[in-house]
Amino acid sequence: MRFIGNKENLVEKIYQILQSKNILGNSFFDFFAGTSNVGQFFKKKSYQVFSSDLLYFSYVLQKAYIENNSEPQFDKLLPKLAIPNNLLFAKPLDLVIDYLNGIEQKEGFIFQNYTPKGTENLEIPRMYFSNENGKIIDGIRTQIEQWKEEALLSENEYFILLACLIETVPFYANISGVYAAFQKIWDARAVKKYIKSVYYVREHTN
Ligand SMILES: C[S@@+](CC[C@H](N)C(=O)[O-])C[C@H]1O[C@@H](n2cnc3c(N)ncnc32)[C@H](O)[C@@H]1O
Repeated sequence: MRFIGNKENLVEKIYQILQSKNILGNSFFDFFAGTSNVGQFFKKKSYQVFSSDLLYFSYVLQKAYIENNSEPQFDKLLPKLAIPNNLLFAKPLDLVIDYLNGIEQKEGFIFQNYTPKGTENLEIPRMYFSNENGKIIDGIRTQIEQWKEEALLSENEYFILLACLIETVPFYANISGVYAAFQKIWDARAVKKYIKSVYYVREHTN
């Protein structure tokens, strides 16, 4: 994902250096986990991974990718959703994401604070997300929380859905790298309509 300092492209090199220096062991501590990519890499190498970070987005990714070891089934949620029959053989996560992609948009926290329409009262309205994408993010985020409150999600399912959202949002953000500032002209990625990157999450949660 787009995150400053993401070591995704460096982990193999890190591993090689550890090997070359004969640094051995069965456990690995990813102290400043960020995207959790480093922990994910060492988990796949069968290390027992411990990880930490100050940021909640990172905690969510750690729960989804590092702590979780099973494919979500959504046993309680799926019977409550009207899923078309032709999707019978899709994975449970695909079905839930498909449902989330079609839900009603909302003018919530993201819309009100990070889109031009939601901040039109400011001297310089904010352009972090397009108006439509801001509402889509709010609609999905609110729905996930509501399902949690209704006890329709297990803890793992909850964090996996949040991870799907977190993994996708950067691909639609009108920023250069961090959210400290937005670009003053719309980047092509920010005006695309939003689709969640469920496949990335699914491949990395097992
Ligand atoms: C350069 S990023 C880490 C990138 C990460 N290795 C990756 O591949 O995505 C640094 C991370 O350290 C975290 N961080 C900074 N100070 C920290 C602290 N005192 N305790 C825990 N995490 C901290 C930040 O929130 C940030 O996610």
